[in-house]
Amino acid sequence: MPTISSLTARQILDSRGTPTIEVDCLLSDGSFGRAAVPSGASTGSHEALELRDGDKKLYQGKSVYKAVANVKGPILSKLKGMSVSDQRLIDTALIQLDGTDNKSILGANAILGVSMAVCRARSVSDKKSLWQSLAEQYGVELSGKITLPMPMMNVINGGKHADSGLSFQECMIIPVDFASFSEALRAGDEIFMTLKKLLHDAGHSTAVGDEGGFAPHVKDSKEAFAFLMQAIDAAGYTGRVKLGIDAAASEFYADGTYNVDGKKLTSAELTAYYQELMREYPLISLEDSHSEDDWDGFASLLAASAHTQIVGDDLLVTNVKRIEEALRKKAANAVLIKVNQIGTISETVDAIQLAQKNGWNAVVSHRSGETEDTFIAHLAVGLQTGQIKTGSLSRTDRVCKYNELLRIEEELGEKAAYVSPFTIS
Ligand code: PGA
Ligand code: ZN
Repeated sequence: MPTISSLTARQILDSRGTPTIEVDCLLSDGSFGRAAVPSGASTGSHEALELRDGDKKLYQGKSVYKAVANVKGPILSKLKGMSVSDQRLIDTALIQLDGTDNKSILGANAILGVSMAVCRARSVSDKKSLWQSLAEQYGVELSGKITLPMPMMNVINGGKHADSGLSFQECMIIPVDFASFSEALRAGDEIFMTLKKLLHDAGHSTAVGDEGGFAPHVKDSKEAFAFLMQAIDAAGYTGRVKLGIDAAASEFYADGTYNVDGKKLTSAELTAYYQELMREYPLISLEDSHSEDDWDGFASLLAASAHTQIVGDDLLVTNVKRIEEALRKKAANAVLIKVNQIGTISETVDAIQLAQKNGWNAVVSHRSGETEDTFIAHLAVGLQTGQIKTGSLSRTDRVCKYNELLRIEEELGEKAAYVSPFTIS
């Protein structure tokens, strides 16, 4: 196995025009890997630290030159000459070099960029696709059929991702009943195009938000869902496409009150409101239904809706300690997986595999600030998560992940499968 010859990094821009870090890794056999790090807007307070320079004269304080310098300096000194045979050893070295729980010395962005770039360089050296190389590194058995992830497509954007006034951050369509990933993608795209026409005809803006979904000024989530149901029916997919939301409830929570859809609700009243929405619409997945430390709110919703996917994002932050707490408290049955919430690929995989071992679903996810990097498409296939959340059907920062999945599906040929991870459909 080759060793690391050099690491370098640079500042690039993400999909919002905010600086982020890109890392290049060169191995002793000439293999090369490059990776770019995403960035959130509705970040959980328990996430690993994203190191930004804070100099108001540069990119309004958001430049990442310190993180770049950390890759070129201390990280390169530590990893230079190390074999890349085992990603866990690389990631452990990074974690030890930083030495903090939240990666605040070197920055989770610096560390993650290196972790991802090494994974890529190894796959090049092994002459394997990244998804296959990741599966081998982390002991995933890939005999027989290989499942492409079911996409949750965020076609109406609200919350912190748009100025639509909609409380819920994401209203998603989920194509559950299709024979292949490409057929599911086609359905999503046709619904997206139909939705555009419906919104336009109703006098709404069809400009898109951060994740490529529309951002109409609807009065509440029921109006948004009604548009989605109409679009699903008009596109000819009645019953085969369900709905999901990411409420991102920490963003509309303050001092014990949830300010949602023009109402002021307690945690218990919010749970009852979700139940009402589930009775009226085919909502099969609810993410961050409650605020990030409202464990009781999550637990009450899970108890009241056993067949619904209850996903923890800000609640769990891709962190095994928080997933273990949620298992004990019965606060969720699925985890959202964001590589930069925890900061290394090995710790990300630990979160996925802990969830899988306990019969939970794991949903690999983008961030609202993305790049052209398609690493997460490979992670979803390599770890066989069965689900991905990577935005709407517009903006290259979103569709590049879908396009990579189309390529993987083609590469797999007869081996490719598309299976619903939902117990209800
Ligand atoms: P973020 O949004 O990347 O802004 O955190 C995505 C999400 O909340 O799932
Ligand atoms: Zn979320």
